[in-house]
Amino acid sequence: MPKITFIDTADTSRTVETEIGSTVMEAALKNGVPGVEAECGGACACATCHVYVDEEWREKTGAPSPMEEDMLDFGYDVRPNSRLSCQIKVTNDLDGLVVRTPVRQA
Ligand code: FES
Repeated sequence: MPKITFIDTADTSRTVETEIGSTVMEAALKNGVPGVEAECGGACACATCHVYVDEEWREKTGAPSPMEEDMLDFGYDVRPNSRLSCQIKVTNDLDGLVVRTPVRQA
């Protein structure tokens, strides 16, 4: 099972196991990772699942879709490596993925 590491703004790191086909947001919620709220349940309609993808993983996670980019406009402190974690599907290639959670969600 792929592992994903979430790092919060205090530099606390939490590594969780997740299933292929789920999303990074679901991995956070199922494992009680703080900092990901996911108010819309993964419908790309709230921007409260915002995370920063670690630089070395940006290529593998890919770019946000136009719909995701529109919703990211509502995120807090959006940066070039911002993604909505509900839009990142977990694959074997993402085993070891590192993302950071923002100071707060939108
Ligand atoms: S959970 Fe709402 S946009 Fe990701």
